[in-house]
Amino acid sequence: MTTFDDTPLTSGAAAAGDGPTSTSVPAQPTAETVAAAAAVTTTDPGASVTGLGEIDTTAHRVSVSEKAMINARADVNQLLPLKYEWAWQKYLSGCNNHWMPTEVSMQADIALWNSKDGLSDDERLMLKRNLGFFATAESLVANNIVLAVYRQLSNPECRQYLLRQAFEEAVHTHTFQYICTSLGLDEGELFNMYREVPSITAKDSWALKYTKHLEDPDFRTGTPEADQDFLRDLVAFYVIFEGMWFYTGFAQILSLGRRNKMVGIAEQYQYILRDESIHLNFGIDAINQIKIENPHLWTPAFQEEVRGMLREACELEVAYGRETMPRGILGLNAELCEQYMHFITNRRCVQLGLQPVMPEAENPFPWMSEVMDLGKEKNFFETRVIEYQTGSGLSWD
Ligand SMILES: [Fe+2]
Ligand SMILES: [Fe+2]
Repeated sequence: MTTFDDTPLTSGAAAAGDGPTSTSVPAQPTAETVAAAAAVTTTDPGASVTGLGEIDTTAHRVSVSEKAMINARADVNQLLPLKYEWAWQKYLSGCNNHWMPTEVSMQADIALWNSKDGLSDDERLMLKRNLGFFATAESLVANNIVLAVYRQLSNPECRQYLLRQAFEEAVHTHTFQYICTSLGLDEGELFNMYREVPSITAKDSWALKYTKHLEDPDFRTGTPEADQDFLRDLVAFYVIFEGMWFYTGFAQILSLGRRNKMVGIAEQYQYILRDESIHLNFGIDAINQIKIENPHLWTPAFQEEVRGMLREACELEVAYGRETMPRGILGLNAELCEQYMHFITNRRCVQLGLQPVMPEAENPFPWMSEVMDLGKEKNFFETRVIEYQTGSGLSWD
């Protein structure tokens, strides 16, 4: 099979490694692409993008050069010929990483949670607020994929991945249902924290406005303004929500796991982290590919705006760290989480080809790097997938 543009963009800051077709996608339509668009465009200009238009039996077959990340007028129902191999590979990786929360034993966690002195009050507060954030965050992310991103991302390879990701978000929500039920937590308390704990509300409200905008049934990409709206949504959810705001939570729970506490939840978080690493990488690759195909969108002013979004998001996450750990717990406190978030934020800037927005920071949790460092993603997946598939547990070191 001939594939095009199969170079993953994740490792490059921006346009590094882009393949022959991606860079050659013209900013201005050629006579050929205009003719191709005319052949598949229906009376509803949005229909050919969503895939809900009339079937045109006279249209010519789709060629790979007609495929594009956004605003493609090529048939969105044709996966082959593949253009974006990186998206297809992420779909395959997601399938290889399949797991279910109920396969992880909660016995040790239940015993520790119910014991009088097993956990300190601060550890309990941290755990509950951590779970409270994730319990609804997974739904917000899923809503954004299904109600906003899928409609606008007019490429079948990417949509194939989005379908897999949507299922994984359902598995993650299932995880919090399973934890809540297993530990006998107050479900009303847990699932209302997004409205009742100010730092969680602040994060969720900040992100939700980007989804809301795209959820408008009349919203369509196709103008520079609308295309930038879509890019903002991708940044808000893939880079910030999944790529920054989940990471304080991962550090908190994995830190407990390293001390042999709540090991069932910690193992589940490690599987979630493995999934989320791919979600983040997909988002970064998608944004960078859109930039390559639509360089007119990535203006200096827009870049500054995105940097501002990351800076603001970092501050919201630091506030969340303080509210979940007002006094700190062994090996972890709000100051270290703040430093960690500066480190993560700057990494995300670089991945998008932007100048860092936070003071330079060392990673205060080097023990996280084995599973967090995107450069080591491959090793991480190889080991963990093998461990999962052979049925053994994850080890802590
Ligand atoms: Fe998730
Ligand atoms: Fe995710």
